[in-house]
Amino acid sequence: MSKIKIPDTMMVAVLNSYSGPDAITIEERPVPKPGKNEVLVKVAYAPINPSDLATLHGFYGFKDPTPIVPGGEGSGEVVAAGPGLMAKNFLGKKVACTGWGVGGGVWSEYVVKSVKGGVLSLNKSLSLEQGAMSFINPLTASAFIDISKKAGQKAIVMTAAASSLGRMVNRLGRSEGIQIVNIVRRDQQVELLKSQGADIVLNSTASDFEQQLHDACHQSNAHLAFDAVAGPLTNQVIKAMPENSKVIVFSSLSKQKVEVSPDQFIFENKRVDGFWLGPWISNQGVFKIMGLWKRAQKQMQTSLKSEVRKIYPLQEVKEAIQEYYQQMTGGKFLLKMS
Ligand SMILES: NC(=O)c1ccc[n+]([C@@H]2O[C@H](COP(=O)([O-])OP(=O)(O)OC[C@H]3O[C@@H](n4cnc5c(N)ncnc54)[C@H](OP(=O)(O)O)[C@@H]3O)[C@@H](O)[C@H]2O)c1
Repeated sequence: MSKIKIPDTMMVAVLNSYSGPDAITIEERPVPKPGKNEVLVKVAYAPINPSDLATLHGFYGFKDPTPIVPGGEGSGEVVAAGPGLMAKNFLGKKVACTGWGVGGGVWSEYVVKSVKGGVLSLNKSLSLEQGAMSFINPLTASAFIDISKKAGQKAIVMTAAASSLGRMVNRLGRSEGIQIVNIVRRDQQVELLKSQGADIVLNSTASDFEQQLHDACHQSNAHLAFDAVAGPLTNQVIKAMPENSKVIVFSSLSKQKVEVSPDQFIFENKRVDGFWLGPWISNQGVFKIMGLWKRAQKQMQTSLKSEVRKIYPLQEVKEAIQEYYQQMTGGKFLLKMS
């Protein structure tokens, strides 16, 4: 049983229109009450992820009418439970919570979540800081390795590879014997990845980038790429890969369209596909996801660890976002709820 006294009101970050961080206000609202099969989580930390930035501008896959509470994932303690045995079992537990479905986003001191997918128990040994970042990137990195293994790939291409996710994919890939052809956009990112053990790291701004990428893809026999950037880079990647290759676009950091020359589809039998974690999870079945979650928990201090760059109080969310925008590489900005 949780000993935390639940107040009547809480502080919440509210996005009032899809026009970016300036549209966020910090408001006082009543603490919600959990219904059947729901729990009340006292949120501890939540990271600022690229998907949160996309949400603020209305570019993400969910676009509920404003005002909304942003925040795609976080961590906390379950302090109250609604009716239902499953909900009661969560009382007092440390959990990761998603910003999907019941209760919405988690940039809030308290949030109600469904026990059917909205909260997941965290290992006792895991800090709430790491727990806050334990869902989106760790499960996506696990998914990419799973997809690569199923496709029989011993080498894959990864763009925006100095991201938290990219570094996870590198560490997991190494442990699974999968070679990563890394693409970044700055020399410091080349050095960063090399210092962390990556073999192949290419800077997309280098004058001979396309030739280097062609050679790396053909020498390593990489037929699968995971692209977070989109825009012209997708075409460069697909062109550089051998016949019968596939590029999976999973984000659009460049905010540009994917434009691929038709000859790549017609004469080289190459394909472009998409990936979004939520639907991927729904298609895997409960047992597989629980297995992945259990394994990810064990790897959270090693392969799936996220670095924390700075912790800001919820009230300073706009300052945190501004600093994150300036340079995204180098670790997550966490919001501390109270
Ligand atoms: N589809 C899904 O289900 C799913 C799930 C998880 C993550 N993702 C995506 O995966 C990506 C990485 O997430 P993360 O949390 O690991 O990010 P992160 O740690 O915040 O890092 C973002 C990285 O992207 C780079 N970047 C930003 N804009 C770029 C551009 N226009 N061209 C090239 N590189 C650029 C940044 O480099 P600088 O330092 O140079 O800015 C930084 O290295 C994000 O796009 C996110 O949305 C998608």
